[in-house]
Amino acid sequence: MVACSAPGKVILFGEHAVVFGEPALAIAINLRTTVRAEPATDWAVNGRPIDSERHRYVRAAMDAVGLPSPFHLTVESEIPEGSGMGSSAAISVSTLAALHSARGDVRPESIALEAFGVEHAVQGRASPIDTSTSTHGEAVLVLRERGTGFLWRVDKDDVSWFLHHRDMPAIDLVVGYTGLDAPTGPLVDKVRAFAERSEAAREAIKEIGRITLSGVDAIKGEDWEAVGKLMNRNHELLNALGVGHHLIDRLIEAVRPLSLGAKITGAGGGGSVIALTEDPASAARAIERAGGKPYKIKSGGPGLEVSKP
Ligand code: MEV
Repeated sequence: MVACSAPGKVILFGEHAVVFGEPALAIAINLRTTVRAEPATDWAVNGRPIDSERHRYVRAAMDAVGLPSPFHLTVESEIPEGSGMGSSAAISVSTLAALHSARGDVRPESIALEAFGVEHAVQGRASPIDTSTSTHGEAVLVLRERGTGFLWRVDKDDVSWFLHHRDMPAIDLVVGYTGLDAPTGPLVDKVRAFAERSEAAREAIKEIGRITLSGVDAIKGEDWEAVGKLMNRNHELLNALGVGHHLIDRLIEAVRPLSLGAKITGAGGGGSVIALTEDPASAARAIERAGGKPYKIKSGGPGLEVSKP
């Protein structure tokens, strides 16, 4: 038996723009998905035959690995689906790791690259930020070229992404989940269609990239007020790209007075918001009162973990 667990993520800066190759910064969170694999005589997920619709990521991971003999897989996840917190990345990474460990060693770089392939196969155009953060853990910065802390490079759809490790000081973040499951694929397609026809959308995407780089500097200098302002501007630009939602507006309005900054995190269209706050308990209560589900997030958790009890 092998048990592999991988974390969800939140994007601090740069979602959507990263699909076009712009810089973005994500951190691993303390909500995880665990996949256990046991050799068996047929394939099953949580005691049932594999359903290609329900278990799309598991199915795509199985196809990617192409194992000759079957397994019984048990999947347990703390990450709500469609919440913008990287549930599909965590399931892709932990399933691939569980299947590969049946064969031998698990190399983080190959898992990250293969998990990106799985996400891409299931949801269409995407960036590797979610799958790389789930694999590596801590904080991951995507840049257009290789820099300090380089981890690996991914090429797809005429875009090259250079993934880097970043050290993150411990900060208090509160995620507010709207409760509305918002699949990433259609939102990415919507932004791409908008960018194809609008110069303003293309400009917004570039500005998000610049915001990420300023955000990274502000975090390094521990200038949290500047980080918060950049988050707010990033949020406005995501709204301008059309990935807002009235449930998101409601949570942002509730949490902003208690935060240095707050924004959509992940694909938007529902999903979650993230707030940088000096008072996480009050921010969490405000999110709850506004109808959201709060999660207090600790930055800098571990990435993929493999155990063979
Ligand atoms: C989703 O967590 C982040 C997006 O930028 C899509 C992606 O990067 O694949 C919206």
